Amino acid sequence: MEIIASPAAMQRWSENARRRGETIAFVPTMGFLHEGHLTLMREGRKRATRLASSLFVNPTQFGPNEDFSRYPRNFEGDCELMRTVPVDVLFAPEPDVMFPAGSQTWVEATEVTTGLCGDRRPGHFRGVTTVVAKLFNIVKPHLALFGEKDFQQLRAIQRMVADLNFDLEIVPVATVREADGLAMSSRNAYLTPEERQRALALSRALRAAGECMKRGARIPAQLAGAAQAVLERTPGVEIEYVEAVDAETLRPIDQLDRAVVVAIAARVGKTRLIDNAVLTPASESEKLSLSKESAG
Ligand code: PAJ
Repeated sequence: MEIIASPAAMQRWSENARRRGETIAFVPTMGFLHEGHLTLMREGRKRATRLASSLFVNPTQFGPNEDFSRYPRNFEGDCELMRTVPVDVLFAPEPDVMFPAGSQTWVEATEVTTGLCGDRRPGHFRGVTTVVAKLFNIVKPHLALFGEKDFQQLRAIQRMVADLNFDLEIVPVATVREADGLAMSSRNAYLTPEERQRALALSRALRAAGECMKRGARIPAQLAGAAQAVLERTPGVEIEYVEAVDAETLRPIDQLDRAVVVAIAARVGKTRLIDNAVLTPASESEKLSLSKESAG
């Protein structure tokens, strides 16, 4: 695996690959890799002839009271994991190379980042879309893979790519979970064993919302209510939000007539965790056959 720190050298690598007719898949990360990241990388490996990744803990997406300075880091361990995929090239720049003094240009997807995490982490998504736009211009991929775990981030990046005519495909990848349901996250490393047990309430709450949908819920608030009830009866889990919104626009809707995403943010101890599930209402004909099944 080649490791490149300078944007110009990375651009040259990609230009050369493109000239040879290679296709480039790209997985941007902030490191402290787990099976979620590696699943994105393996998927990228399958879909292109070259696989690029990046490791950059982006200071511009952390708020002043957030965990930038204590975000978990393990550069050597991450390189070892990337070599198992294998990743062909890792772009790992220094912060002052990505955001030198004098930087003043931002990329922001507006509506899709209102609500949910956008309201609770001011400036966060602006930092994400800006660094991802820069990474796309540096790595020049044909396709880039993003996890559904960070659902609002995925929608913001899809919006940015459409709005700014980025010439690449965004490939969403389903959330990878531990055997007991906990969504994998670098921040799970902050949890004590006891907190990790409590953190299972998030995936349990999403399953409860799914059950509620199957029982024929009519409005999104019923799904959010079912999830909230599970969280509320788990001590030590402090809800930041539980919402069921349009899975495309992330705006509130009042009928279950399309796919919704049930999204949760909650604090377990000092650790902020997020999780979500996309639920699609059964069509009227499916509902009919379900009710026939239960009748006979
Ligand atoms: P990071 O949290 O390191 O995540 C990198 C990628 O891995 C993101 O696309 C994220 O959605 C995906 N991912 C994380 N956990 C996952 C899981 N359990 N299942 C599936 N995919 C998962 O997201 C970021 O970094 C940053 O915001 C970044 C896009 C790199 C910009 O700085």
